[in-house]
Amino acid sequence: MEIRNIEIQNLRNLKKISLFPSSGLNFIVGENGEGKSSFLESIYIMGNLKSFKTSRIRECINWDEQFFFIRGKTDLHIQAIYLNRAGDKKVSLNGKRVPPLEYLKNISVIGFFPQEEFKIFQSFSEIRSLIDRGIFNIDKEYLLLYKAFLHHLENRNILLKAKKKDEKLFKIVTEKFIETSTKIDKKREEFLEEIKPVFSDIVRRISENKWNITFSYFPSKYTKEKAIEEEEKGFSLFGAHRGRILFELNGKKMRSFASQGQIKVALFAFKLSLIRLLKRRGTSSIFLIDDIGGEVDIKRRSFLIEFLLEEKIQSFVTSAIPLYIENATVFQVKKGKIWKSQ
Ligand SMILES: Nc1ncnc2c1ncn2[C@@H]1O[C@H](COP(=O)(O)OP(=O)(O)O)[C@@H](O)[C@H]1O
Ligand SMILES: [Mg+2]
Repeated sequence: MEIRNIEIQNLRNLKKISLFPSSGLNFIVGENGEGKSSFLESIYIMGNLKSFKTSRIRECINWDEQFFFIRGKTDLHIQAIYLNRAGDKKVSLNGKRVPPLEYLKNISVIGFFPQEEFKIFQSFSEIRSLIDRGIFNIDKEYLLLYKAFLHHLENRNILLKAKKKDEKLFKIVTEKFIETSTKIDKKREEFLEEIKPVFSDIVRRISENKWNITFSYFPSKYTKEKAIEEEEKGFSLFGAHRGRILFELNGKKMRSFASQGQIKVALFAFKLSLIRLLKRRGTSSIFLIDDIGGEVDIKRRSFLIEFLLEEKIQSFVTSAIPLYIENATVFQVKKGKIWKSQ
């Protein structure tokens, strides 16, 4: 996928933007506070229907306005999202309103935001969603399976919450819930197995053979203890919505022992391997990276630029420091306005 034109209205300090990016590397330069991250945030929201900065996406609406609107014309379709202060959200594909999961299944916008990566790493749901979004793109049955799972989960939670539940019905719903959940776990495991060799190759290259980072998926399975606790809590305590992925660095759990820098490298490599794998499977992602000048050291910077050129994917890279990047199309940002540099 490739953005040919993007229009942004009222997203943070970007009041009205229409931009025609290049299909390769787009380099966005501007001083702090001018709107670089907001521009990446707009593309991210267009691709993921959520922000990487806040879980309250309404905060992204410009302070003086009542709504934001983002519309991207890509080589595949026209996708748009509108959100107002009352919380009305309209998501559309080629001018037709569609449910969020339908919208998301053919889009892949992956970003690396150094300041937020630690938070992302701590959240199993963020990493799960990266994986699930990846599988949506390459396995057309996965969305149906996923929707069925969500449906059974919801029904099961309703029954668990009820004061007196129909035990027979609960048994049937639980069986279906476990069945879809197990299938999802299996798909995730298969997908992760495919990523592993790509990932370890990238880690080796960016750590110059110093680090050995591995990851494993841990499904959340039924136990008698959980079943008892569920009755008290009133919601499902096992299932695919609770599967965890854990990283280890040289045999030590990263969540407990790794430095922020190591965590960034692990996620960076994970996201790049996702991009490479999806590309091999026929889906071109769009890649965003915020503040490459300040956050990414020179060695990794050149690795990344080489990688992006090699994979031939569209990317948007910001920096407060003007850097010279061969073959990049350069844009300037000032006071919420963006224009192409000559
Ligand atoms: N909801 C909002 N409405 C208007 N302006 C905002 C909103 N949220 C943040 N801003 C402002 O937008 C400006 C641009 O921020 P940002 O894109 O993060 O800058 P940069 O990444 O270039 O340093 C900042 O001055 C910030 O205070
Ligand atoms: Mg910024």
